[in-house]
Amino acid sequence: MDSILQCMRCRKTYPIDQVIYACESCGGLLDVTHDLDTLKRTVTRATFDARLGTLDAPYNSGVWRYKELIAPYLRDDQIISRPEGNTNLYHVPKLAQWAGIGKLYLKHEGENPTGSFKDRGMTGGVTQARLLGMTRVACASTGNTSASLAAYAAWSGMQGIVLMQNKQIASGKLSQSIAYGATCIRVDGDFDKNLELVKELSATADIYMLNSINPFRLEGQKSIMFEAIQQLRWNVPDWIVVPGGNLGNSSSFGKALWEMREIGLIDRLPRLAIIQAEGANPLYRAYLTEFEEYHPVHAETIATAIKIGNPVNYPKAVRALEWTSGVVEQVTDQQTMEAKALIDAQGIGCEPASGCTLAGIKKLVEGGIIAPNETVVGLLTGHVLKDPDVTIAYHEDTL
Ligand code: F0G
Repeated sequence: MDSILQCMRCRKTYPIDQVIYACESCGGLLDVTHDLDTLKRTVTRATFDARLGTLDAPYNSGVWRYKELIAPYLRDDQIISRPEGNTNLYHVPKLAQWAGIGKLYLKHEGENPTGSFKDRGMTGGVTQARLLGMTRVACASTGNTSASLAAYAAWSGMQGIVLMQNKQIASGKLSQSIAYGATCIRVDGDFDKNLELVKELSATADIYMLNSINPFRLEGQKSIMFEAIQQLRWNVPDWIVVPGGNLGNSSSFGKALWEMREIGLIDRLPRLAIIQAEGANPLYRAYLTEFEEYHPVHAETIATAIKIGNPVNYPKAVRALEWTSGVVEQVTDQQTMEAKALIDAQGIGCEPASGCTLAGIKKLVEGGIIAPNETVVGLLTGHVLKDPDVTIAYHEDTL
């Protein structure tokens, strides 16, 4: 079997080169499904260990090192890469102590080419766009996806189009999209509204949509899990903790971990903890009803990256939580900013949304969900320079 597109709900399949964002039969989200039986026979940990440190494309990328698990059908020369990934996994004993656990690692996805984890998805998405013969790519964004799309569009000679909310886009992110030369459209609406507009745009014009509803984005983001676990010498941590907005990242983590076990790269799954801002918490609310009920919310939080009230990947995130016996937690903006300040003061630094990770870990330890002797890998999703205004205001006490 070659890789195919497959509806996660009704299992209907589509060829990999069809331009499609949702199942034509039932409207369900699509997965890129690979032939795991073949992969089980053909890749091992050694396949990926042998590529560490290479200077040659595409395996010098921390995404394409795992090419067989992401897009086995690609020729190397079809890949558009900066290259991305190869981010540090920091051992942070002081922060572990603050959170109340023995062993904490922070994987810093702000160390990607445009300063966020989005680059790992964008290399997959833009590569697919070119494969499909597209010349224009678009997204709605709270700022990081647009920065990444703008860069990868420029890098590959495509036109980038980004829709951003008129207010509350962090200045670092806005400046990137402008600098990289994307067509920037500031809409007087929030992220959720902009996403609807991009969907309309891509349905009517010849424009390829690169929001995380696009499954090729999520394939690239799986590499965060591959790389973190390889960095731990293939030892599986007890917990993976990640902030949740549109829920693309957490969805991709679930798929990555499930596939790793199917292929035999790991023998058990870590538990996934998704942390939401209290003012943008539709997943958390649904979690409290054991996913019986789901209602979009009007989002409001200082962590503008995750100011999302109706996450498109909700069903995939629920699946990831089911696969990993996962949990959802929420944190206040105050807790987020305190945790961010502590990460910053270590000399590591991150943007506000990433503060949710550490704040969430502390809360889960206090709630008895994460045990003090468990090993935790937390995700820092964006660079400290993304949102300088909030950092300065926090320290000036003017937030
Ligand atoms: N952290 C940062 C720094 C982000 O930019 C985002 C999402 C998230 C966490 C949440 O990830 O959506 O996969 O659950 N930013 C998107 C954007 C929405 O447009 O840049 P998610």
